[in-house]
Amino acid sequence: MKIGVFDSGIGGLTVVKSLLEHKLFEEIVYFGDTARVPYGVKDKNTIIRYAIEAVEFFKNFELDLIIVACNTVSAYALDEMRESASCPVFGVVEAGILATANAVEGKDAKVLILGTKATVNSKAYEIGLRALGYENLQAKATGLFVPMVEEEIYEGEILQATLRHYFSTLDKPNALILGCTHFPLISEALQEYFGSECKLIHSGDAIVEYLEKEFTFTHKYPNTELKFFASENPDALKKIAKKWLNN
Ligand code: DGL
Repeated sequence: MKIGVFDSGIGGLTVVKSLLEHKLFEEIVYFGDTARVPYGVKDKNTIIRYAIEAVEFFKNFELDLIIVACNTVSAYALDEMRESASCPVFGVVEAGILATANAVEGKDAKVLILGTKATVNSKAYEIGLRALGYENLQAKATGLFVPMVEEEIYEGEILQATLRHYFSTLDKPNALILGCTHFPLISEALQEYFGSECKLIHSGDAIVEYLEKEFTFTHKYPNTELKFFASENPDALKKIAKKWLNN
């Protein structure tokens, strides 16, 4: 299968990393809208418009599937993308909801959802989890983590202060949804902060779990062909991809 992966910027590379680890696809075409990132502070109509433009871009390739790595886009624009695409489109929010349900024991599990302002305002995770019977939900917009990860701040005092700023008044959850492409890069610090008992839900692993249920994969592709495109400065994206994906 030849697939497209869409994100507002570089963060979706964390999803590509999971896809590569599981060797599921022959070719991955990545598009990051680096000229217009961040999406997480934009309104619904803008996010939908940009997402449809991404579908148009992907029409230049004969794709079997599009994966929306961006939580913000998955929360707002999946239906519209599906309407304009000529292949199936899967988003990380739906996958993350199912992965959370698989990871926790009992419907009374305490789930904390992290995301951009837009993702949290959409309530997409809460709606999905409530439909499955989970009620003990809290959501927190933690947008400061996005520029910090872009600055390669994965540990240290600034990150610790930001963790305290966001979470010092919250109860420790049983599961923490990393509802933003960037957050897996600070998963060690989050795990340490919330304790080893807390299950971290990673969009990349969640979408792999989801796809493995949806499709039968008969081949493993150890040398997936990667093509990177960005709406601004594709060389910077390629450089980061090299570093994050070790390829
Ligand atoms: N990719 C976005 C997400 O997963 C985070 C960055 C942004 O705000 O565009 O929600």
